[in-house]
Amino acid sequence: MFEAVPEADAIFLKCILHNWSDEECVKILERCKEAITKEGKKGKVIIIDMTVENKNTDKESGETQLFFDMLIMVLATGKERNEKEWAKLFSDADFSHYKITPCLGLRSLIEVYP
Ligand SMILES: C[S@@+](CC[C@H](N)C(=O)[O-])C[C@H]1O[C@@H](n2cnc3c(N)ncnc32)[C@H](O)[C@@H]1O
Repeated sequence: MFEAVPEADAIFLKCILHNWSDEECVKILERCKEAITKEGKKGKVIIIDMTVENKNTDKESGETQLFFDMLIMVLATGKERNEKEWAKLFSDADFSHYKITPCLGLRSLIEVYP
């Protein structure tokens, strides 16, 4: 995915981007954008990952998210991200808008559009 992503209407990344650094995520997202905009198409990227520091998250879930953040920091080069950090990745990869829906327990549905 750092080199090329096959052409598609939608790309689904579940629990992938939290494993990678900001720079690596931007590269993956840039390849995704190329794949969903080939020949004038306008698809979308669908991400399932955590969005930390969400005001509506209860105390126990918030703590669990922070433990995941530490785990990812130790096991990989990634991190759990708050909305501002997600927004910066999408903007750096040249996407125009996104929608975050925190509807999956600890995780959110994040839709990203070219
Ligand atoms: C957290 S798991 C998520 C798996 C799946 N998307 C899910 O939600 O059940 C991350 C996945 O990325 C894969 N992975 C990690 N580094 C990879 C790499 N360099 N190349 C290909 N796959 C890799 C791992 O093997 C693992 O299956």
